[in-house]
Amino acid sequence: MMRGTLVVAAVIMAAALWRSDALHAAGGSATRGKLAYQDCAACHGARGQGSDLAPGLRNIVGRKVADENGFAYSPALRRHGGVWSEERLAAFLLRPQAEVKGNRMAYAGAASAAEAADLVAYLKTIK
Ligand code: HEC
Repeated sequence: MMRGTLVVAAVIMAAALWRSDALHAAGGSATRGKLAYQDCAACHGARGQGSDLAPGLRNIVGRKVADENGFAYSPALRRHGGVWSEERLAAFLLRPQAEVKGNRMAYAGAASAAEAADLVAYLKTIK
């Protein structure tokens, strides 16, 4: 009886741990991402609202690439096509020029893959 209860408790705990782990791995840290976003704010706006220099970034995860109305994107970014998945976004933020050769974003790239994941986690909070 007691043993069964312990097993159930262990399974519930393991599931809870797995869940927080999975969320972390998939999402990075939005808190750290918010700090890293300071590198983006001068162009994309303090809360991703966009500016004359750069497109807005609200709801960017799942949004079509180069789809902000009225922003004059480069041919390179338009050709990139499709939708910004978390993976494509992280790859672009890590190495913008390697990922989308010839794009016009003057940003060298995140310091690490972890920082790129943190940025994506933060971008998901900008709606
Ligand atoms: C110096 C200005 C500048 C900085 C700094 C900058 N960007 Fe950009 N960003 C741009 C411009 C300009 C474009 C459009 C590029 C093009 O059309 O080739 C762009 C495009 C993008 C896009 C694609 C948007 C879309 O509608 O498809 C994303 C996502 C993005 N930037 C995120 C970021 C993030 C996150 C940071 C900070 C880590 C950042 N950018 C830093 C200027 C900047």
